[in-house]
Amino acid sequence: MTINDGTDHVRITHREEILHIQMNRPEKKNALTRAMYQTMADAILGADKEDAIRLVLLTGTADCFTSGNDLADFMSAGNDKGGQFHNPFLPVISRAEKPIVAIVSGFAIGIGTTMLLHCDLVYAGAKARFQLPFVNLGLCPELASTLLLPRLIGHQKAAELLLLGEAFDAQTAREFGLVNAVFPEEELFDAALRKARQLAAQPPASVRLTKTLMKRPIEAAVSKAIDEERAYFTELLKSPAAAEAFQAFVERRKPDFSHF
Ligand code: COA
Repeated sequence: MTINDGTDHVRITHREEILHIQMNRPEKKNALTRAMYQTMADAILGADKEDAIRLVLLTGTADCFTSGNDLADFMSAGNDKGGQFHNPFLPVISRAEKPIVAIVSGFAIGIGTTMLLHCDLVYAGAKARFQLPFVNLGLCPELASTLLLPRLIGHQKAAELLLLGEAFDAQTAREFGLVNAVFPEEELFDAALRKARQLAAQPPASVRLTKTLMKRPIEAAVSKAIDEERAYFTELLKSPAAAEAFQAFVERRKPDFSHF
């Protein structure tokens, strides 16, 4: 079974007990639009309801996981006088009941990295590059990463990644515990799929319950962090610093924050 969102920017394939969500917009480094988020959220919700699906597999394309939120969408949201910047994917991935296995090849930027904090098994190619450039864009982090990242790696390391927005490689991501294992690119998909199949063969009720029990102690805090970050994020999207950062990206130059 293959479903798509009408643009083919997200491909959803149900094979054996695995629902495969593929971010597939390589011409824009798989930058995520609102339509793509909605399709991905619907697919995860659908997987949770479907007994025949044991887990969700999340991938990008051969040389890119995702470059994060589409910056043109951010720009138009910044010009929008309306309410909160609502992204349906955030609450859905954070509360997903079925396990999510992510395969990261190439760039995983912004939400490309923060979504991994909500996945259960993450495998990366040796050339994967991770980055959290929210502050660099005049924004603040999302998807409860201000809560989950310091919890995973400690305040100072998280500050380095979130305040300086420096990129890090696959080996570092593995040392942080963000990634389970790193494979040479040519072995990555098959190696990760073997792990996914191993997980799919486990007794489903026990898998689901164990995931729930692991997440439950901080479920309310995660949900609160997502809401709080969203409120500030919406404000910052309209800020002069963000406008300068987005314009600088379009003009392929370094942003100048000296006046803000
Ligand atoms: N939103 C919108 N378009 C994006 C994008 C994004 N997040 N990331 C890449 N693109 C587009 C580029 O504008 C370019 O489009 P064009 O060919 O029409 O000019 C195309 O994708 C290819 O990107 P390019 O920058 O030429 O590729 P690269 O290999 O030199 O660099 C990245 C790849 C991912 C490092 C770089 O594109 C980048 O930094 N993107 C922005 C990442 C980001 O800040 N995301 C938001 C996080 S909150």
